[in-house]
Amino acid sequence: MQIQGQGALVTGASRGLGRALAEALAAGGARVALVARDAGPLGDVVASIRARGGIAHAIAADISEKDAVHRIAGQAQGLVGEIGIAVHNASSLGPTPLRLLLDTECEDLAAVLETNLVGPFRLTKVLAGAMALRGGGVIVHISSDAAVEPYPRWGAYGISKAAQDHLSRILAAELADTGVRVLAVDPGEMDTKMHADAMPDADRATLQRPAEVAARIVEMIEDGARAKTGARLVAPSWEVQP
Ligand SMILES: NC(=O)c1ccc[n+]([C@@H]2O[C@H](COP(=O)([O-])OP(=O)(O)OC[C@H]3O[C@@H](n4cnc5c(N)ncnc54)[C@H](OP(=O)(O)O)[C@@H]3O)[C@@H](O)[C@H]2O)c1
Repeated sequence: MQIQGQGALVTGASRGLGRALAEALAAGGARVALVARDAGPLGDVVASIRARGGIAHAIAADISEKDAVHRIAGQAQGLVGEIGIAVHNASSLGPTPLRLLLDTECEDLAAVLETNLVGPFRLTKVLAGAMALRGGGVIVHISSDAAVEPYPRWGAYGISKAAQDHLSRILAAELADTGVRVLAVDPGEMDTKMHADAMPDADRATLQRPAEVAARIVEMIEDGARAKTGARLVAPSWEVQP
């Protein structure tokens, strides 16, 4: 898919990987709608993209809130046109320090699932039909190695990411004949607030920069021959898992 001229929506775009993805898509010529809860940092990112000549708009909203989803989609389409690229990047770890699963409150597990699984699902339900009618689009789910590895204390987050990976595969199968590609991407460890919240003692020098990872994800969005629908792409090797 050509990035130039696409309408794109990126959740969790006020910092970290989401910010880098929004910047990379805008630099490639997409019109980008950026979503996050806190309007202040989000507005700063939009201003910085516009200062470099990109087209960007802020939508302050909480992806976990059922009532916000139609507003996000409607505003995004009004601001940047039909959405050809949707990146489900916003994510919650749940309470930190991370807890053993049996010490996790059921309400905290439910809240993580609302942000990482149900919210993205609701948004895809609103956006995917129009993509299918137009015969094309790319939906990207940002995953994690915690979706695959049973790391102690990463229970709520890992469960949500494993479910999101399977959501991605099932959507890909169901949309196979529509031209809409559905991908999952494990971006690997990056130097972001989320990483610092989860692992405050990590050596930041060993972590990937979000901009490097975002550039590779944009390549995968562009390269339908390599990143086929249903694939799960894993950084830093960018191995494609069928
Ligand atoms: N960092 C890593 O090492 C790593 C490793 C594997 C996978 N990942 C995945 O990569 C993605 C990006 O992570 P990151 O490290 O860049 O995270 P981050 O630095 O914590 O940024 C998270 C972004 O999501 C927004 N957000 C959080 N909850 C939201 C909600 N309910 N509604 C709307 N926006 C929300 C935040 O802004 P507000 O707080 O203002 O809403 C922020 O813009 C996530 O899916 C994460 O699971 C990260």
